[in-house]
Formats: sequence, C-alpha cells, structure tokens
Amino acid sequence: MLLKATGIKKTYGNKFKRTEVLKGIDINLNKGEFVSIMGASGSGKTTLLNVLSSIDNVTAGHIYIDGVDFTALKDKKLADFRKNDLGFIFQDYNLLDTLTVKENIMLPLSIRSISKKNAEAQFDNVAGQLGISGLADKYPGQISGGQAQRTSAARAFIHQPKIIFADEPTGALDSKSASDLLKKLQDLNETLNTSILMVTHDATAASFSHRVIFLKDGQVYTSLTRGEMSQDAYYREILDTQRVLGGVVNEAQ
Ligand SMILES: Nc1ncnc2c1ncn2[C@@H]1O[C@H](COP(=O)(O)OP(=O)(O)OP(=O)(O)O)[C@@H](O)[C@H]1O
Ligand SMILES: [Mg+2]
Repeated sequence: MLLKATGIKKTYGNKFKRTEVLKGIDINLNKGEFVSIMGASGSGKTTLLNVLSSIDNVTAGHIYIDGVDFTALKDKKLADFRKNDLGFIFQDYNLLDTLTVKENIMLPLSIRSISKKNAEAQFDNVAGQLGISGLADKYPGQISGGQAQRTSAARAFIHQPKIIFADEPTGALDSKSASDLLKKLQDLNETLNTSILMVTHDATAASFSHRVIFLKDGQVYTSLTRGEMSQDAYYREILDTQRVLGGVVNEAQ
C-alpha cells in the first residue's frame, strides 16, 4: 500500500463555533492506482485532498505514505517530502506567466542536483507523452487552456513523484480538452506507474480512474471499482451512484 490514511478528521473554527468538515475518513491508495473522489459541493473533497497532500494539517488521524507518517514530520522534512514525492495539478493550472512552458515544466527539477542532460531527457519524455514538445518556448498567455493543463500535468510528473494530487483538473476545460487530458493522465499512470488521486464532479472524468470514492457530509459514503467493466458501463454506474447520493442528500434536507 502506498498511501494509508486512518481516522482523518478536520475541524475548522474556534472554541465558540466549530465545524467538523471531515468526520473520520479511512482511505487507501495502492501503488500505480488512479482513484477519483466525488461528492456534492461542500462534502469535503478539497479539504480531504489538501490534508492527504500535506497542504493542510489534520485535526486527528494519521497519513502514511510508504510507511512514513507525515502528520508527524517537522516543517523542513515535510517541505522536502512534498517537493520530492508529490506532484500537483490544480483547476486553474497555476503556471507562472513569466516563465516559458519548458521553464514551468522544469521547475520541480531546479531544486534538485540533477545533471542538465538528465533534466533535458526527462523534459523530452513527459512533454512528448503529453504532446506539448512544440510549445516549449511559448508563454502561458500564448497557449490554450487544454495546453496549459497538459503543461501543468507535465510539471506534476517530471520529477517522478509517488503520487499526483489533482483537484478538478478538467474543471476549466471543454469536453474535448478534458478527455484529451484524461487519456494522457491514464497513459502516464500506466507507463510510469505513478498513483493519482483526483477530485472531480464529472462522471466522465471519473470513468478514467480505477476506483471512485464518494463522499457525503465529510464521510466515505461508498465506492465503485471499475474492474472488468467497460468504461461506458462504469460511467453509467458512476452516474447512478451520483443520483442515489444526490437523492440521499436531498432527503436529509
Ligand atoms: N478554511 C476554511 N474555514 C472554514 N470552513 C471551511 C474552510 N475550507 C472549507 N470549509 C468548509 O468545509 C466544507 C467542505 O469544503 P470543501 O472545499 O472541502 O468542499 P468540496 O467538496 O471541495 O466542494 P466543491 O465541490 O464546491 O469544491 C464546506 O462547508 C466549506 O465551507
Ligand atoms: Mg472543492
């Protein structure tokens, strides 16, 4: 098991008003697994991704990656761990406008002692797989949203992290660019065996992953595994589960 999270709780607020956003979540992620997290708006998806990726701290619980409990790591060690072992893709790309596509992608390597030749080879590899080699010298303002998100994916993969965390990576893309990106993520997941944990509200996007975990009100409601299902059958199961989940949410109101 690559990631093991147990009893995750996250509470916001002060002693007068406290909101428990995550109410005791257990999640496992295997090496090479591509998992989606779905759930209604406000169910805690981003909060969960942020604590699992060490962007935010937990109120209770433990998170182990490769057996290391990083909820116990000190700031410097935690920062190193994040830089070396994790990759991130955000909905709004988070590219630096004053750097070229290539410079953006190379950023995670700039903090490492890696030879120029090696860095170039890694760039050629990910940029090639993501189909953006031709854009190397362009600036973020000169490329499309789909190209920007593939650039951001290349930056997430270039240092060969153990896990990529993606929060609504297709949220700002049209459906064609979204499925292009998801196919690339699926390919990279297979060829590099990098685990991916992706938050999405889109059943099509989720149908590219191996397993979908549904959150409801800060708890795991249920999960679905693709197994031998066709992508289309899996997509329909995801839609059905979303519908049931939506119904439950409405009944509770
Ligand atoms: N910094 C914060 N302080 C207080 N409450 C917060 C904070 N961040 C999130 N919350 C609350 O926690 C709950 C879960 O938020 P979260 O962003 O995790 O939801 P989400 O499932 O990602 O929703 P969406 O689909 O809209 O992105 C919401 O009720 C939100 O208002
Ligand atoms: Mg969110």
